[in-house]
Amino acid sequence: MLIAGNWKMYKTASDAADFCRALKARLAGLDGVDVAVCPPYPALAAAVQVLADSDVAVAAQNVHWESDGAFTGEVSASMLRDLGVYGAIVGHSERRQHFGETDETVARRVAAALEAGLWVIACVGELEQERGAGETEEVLRRQVSVLEAHDQLVIAYEPVWAIGTGKTATPEIAEEAHALIKSIVDVPVLYGGSVKPDNATELLGQPNVDGALVGGASLEVESFAAICEAAATL
Ligand code: PGA
Repeated sequence: MLIAGNWKMYKTASDAADFCRALKARLAGLDGVDVAVCPPYPALAAAVQVLADSDVAVAAQNVHWESDGAFTGEVSASMLRDLGVYGAIVGHSERRQHFGETDETVARRVAAALEAGLWVIACVGELEQERGAGETEEVLRRQVSVLEAHDQLVIAYEPVWAIGTGKTATPEIAEEAHALIKSIVDVPVLYGGSVKPDNATELLGQPNVDGALVGGASLEVESFAAICEAAATL
């Protein structure tokens, strides 16, 4: 079971250091769950430094497919590895919606990151109108089929209508989507979309739910730790 906190564009480096110190103390001695935080780029080094003597891993929120070059604004896998970062989220729906990420660029980022030795959380998920039109399976098949199974790859199923909206997929909806994804690429699948301490146990209890990618509730130590603790009991 993996619980990863996606901080999005929140927390400065000094906020991150304070948060990580508190999280480390709060989770000390907790077994049975892998935990990762995904700070924005400027806060990665501080998080790596504070968490160096803990079991909490640090991942980035994106990664480019080239190792270096004229790609203004991008960051490569080797740069992340050099910082001590262990992985990266790729293809989050906010990148697909606002920054032109496509299935093709997701596939390139994922392949390069895995090749460089990073762990990857590759995100997939349907829009509300796609679910309404009965296109969920088609969308997930399209997004997942560009990925290949790898022992450092994890997929996050994040129905876009459930992200930051307080609407959560029912455990049945999540379970159905996770089973479909695993039938295409057999890797662990995290659920993401308004995971909170009070719904974590139910969602994480589904047989094909292997963890969670948590946005809003990962920004406070208390709520994030409560989700990690719920996962550890399963
Ligand atoms: P949320 O975000 O938990 O705030 O819905 C999840 C995500 O975007 O990864």
